[in-house]
Amino acid sequence: MFVDRVLSGMRPTGSLHLGHYHGVLKNWVKMQQEYECYFFVADWHALTTHYDSPRIIEESVWNMVIDWLAVGVDPSRATLFIQSRVPEHAELHLLLSMITPRGWLERVPTYKDQQEKLSDKDLGTYGFLGYPLLQSADILIYRATQVPVGEDQVPHIEFTREIARRFNHIYGREPDFEEKAQAAVRKMGGKNAKLYNEFRLRYQEKGDDEALQFARSLLEEQQNLGSADRERLFGYLEGCGKMILSEPHAMLTAASKMPGLDGHKMSKSYNNTISLREDEPSVTKKIRTMPTDPARVRRTDPGNPDHCPVWQLHQVYSGEDTRNWVQQGCRGASIGCIECKQPVVDAVLAEQRPMRERAQLFLEDTALVRSIIAEGSDKARRLAAETMREVREAMGLAYR
Ligand code: TRP
Ligand code: SF4
Repeated sequence: MFVDRVLSGMRPTGSLHLGHYHGVLKNWVKMQQEYECYFFVADWHALTTHYDSPRIIEESVWNMVIDWLAVGVDPSRATLFIQSRVPEHAELHLLLSMITPRGWLERVPTYKDQQEKLSDKDLGTYGFLGYPLLQSADILIYRATQVPVGEDQVPHIEFTREIARRFNHIYGREPDFEEKAQAAVRKMGGKNAKLYNEFRLRYQEKGDDEALQFARSLLEEQQNLGSADRERLFGYLEGCGKMILSEPHAMLTAASKMPGLDGHKMSKSYNNTISLREDEPSVTKKIRTMPTDPARVRRTDPGNPDHCPVWQLHQVYSGEDTRNWVQQGCRGASIGCIECKQPVVDAVLAEQRPMRERAQLFLEDTALVRSIIAEGSDKARRLAAETMREVREAMGLAYR
C-alpha cells in the first residue's frame, strides 16, 4: 500500500509556547498516527534569518526536541532529525539552484514581506533569498507527498511543485524515454497495461482527472515495477519525462487562533506567551494578572466577555457549562475576575502536567534524546541518499 509521507520542519529560534502546541504540535501528534511522518529541526533555516545569533539556535535545538517529545511526538511513530545532520539537503539545494530562475525566488511573497516586517534584521543575504529553495530541497529529498503548513507557507509549496516540474522536465527526458516507458507498460501485464493505456489516453485527450487518479493508484499497486519504471510511468501519464522528483501537496493547517495573555495572537514578539513547560507558579501568576474588560473597575461593575482576553482563553479551554457561568457571572457582576480566571489556570496547568512529566524523563536522560535524534537522522539520511543517487545520475554526476 502506498502511504502518504508527511514532512515538516520547525525553526529553532527560541522556546516553544502554547501557541505552537495548539497551532502545530497537536496536529503533528495526530498525524503520526495516520501517516509516515518526518519532523525535523530546521537549523539551517534558522541561520537564514539569525546568522548573527548562533548561540540561540544552539540552545534552542535540544530544547525544541524535548518540547516535541513532551507534547507526545513519538519517536517510535515519527522520524525526528536535525536538518544539518543530513547534509544531502545542502547538496540538493545547490543542485536545484542551478535551474532556479532568480525571479521565482524574488517573487515568493514571504521574501518581501519578511524584509518589511523584520526590518531590524539583515535579510539582504543570498541565504535568505534562497531559503524557499532550501525548503524545497527539504521536501523533495524525501519525496514527501503532504506538507502541513500554515497559510503563509503555501506559496513555498507551490514554488516547490514548480521546481520539481522544472527538474523533471529538464532531466527526466532520457533519449529513449518513449521506448522505456512503453516497455514498462508491458511489464505490468496484459490487463493492467491495457487499463493504464486507457486511463492515460482519457487523461491526455480529454483532461479527465478521474482517469489520472485511477492510473496513479494503478501504478502504486504494481508489484513488478522497479522504482525507475514507476517514475517513468508517472511521468509518461502526464506527458512529461521521468518523474524523478515528485510534487508535494500543502496540507493546510487551520491558522492557530491561540490567543495570548493580552488578547492578541500568542507570539514571542508580542511578549504574551506561556511557554510549554513553564513552571506552575509563573503560569498562575501570568493568568491572574491578565488584563480584563476595562469596564469592570469594581467587582460590582458588570462586564462584557467580548471585551476581555480571559474569555478568549475560556473559548479554548472551557466546556459549555463553564462558559455559560462566565457569561452570566460577568454580565451580571456575580463573579469576580480572579474567580473567573481560576478554571483557565486549572485547565492550562492540567494541559501542561503530562508535558512537564514527559519532559522531565528526557531532561534526566539527555543521552536518550541524543540517540533518538541520531537514529532519526540516520534513517532520514538513508532515504535522502536514495533520492540523491537518482538526482546525481540525472544531472550527469554519477561518474564511476
Ligand atoms: N519554513 C518553515 C517555517 O518557517 C520551516 C520549514 C523549513 C519547513 N523546511 C520545511 C516546513 C519543510 C515544512 C517543510 O516555518
Ligand atoms: Fe473577563 Fe471573566 Fe472578568 Fe468578565 S469576569 S471581565 S470575562 S475575567
